[in-house]
Amino acid sequence: MNVTFDLDGTETTVDVPPEKPLRDVLREDCDAKSVKDACDSGRCGSCTVLLDGTAVKTCLVPAAQADGQSVTTVAGIEDGTLGREVQDALEEHFALQCGYCTPGFVLSALSYLDDDPSADREDVRSALGGNVCRCTGYEKIIDAVADVAADLE
Ligand code: FES
Ligand code: FES
Repeated sequence: MNVTFDLDGTETTVDVPPEKPLRDVLREDCDAKSVKDACDSGRCGSCTVLLDGTAVKTCLVPAAQADGQSVTTVAGIEDGTLGREVQDALEEHFALQCGYCTPGFVLSALSYLDDDPSADREDVRSALGGNVCRCTGYEKIIDAVADVAADLE
């Protein structure tokens, strides 16, 4: 099946089985390696992208569902945007170590803050609850995103 979507601003068409996980389409057919894979069951969040602006775990999304939609990976985040603010805050708070989880956290945070700019620290903790980090202990990540939220108020 031909699946066409906007990938970080570029119209992209791939010929893939409709049930192929979007994560694998992005990594294998589009070379979008910022989309990570660490489980196959929606438990880690490392494969998160924005699908028409909403954070989704792409290991759970069949390719056919992306047809006609926009897909934003962390590579598509531009300077001067809220997504860049989140990335900068993570760096400033030393909230990443190996960085494997970071693209997923950035996109989950971006999607959430877009919907709820008045989020407080506990809102942020809850919003990022679907993303797993093996390195940081989470607190610095929460600090970083909560700081961005505070600046939005
Ligand atoms: S790889 Fe998709 S949630 Fe873990
Ligand atoms: S920084 Fe290593 S998994 Fe999060």
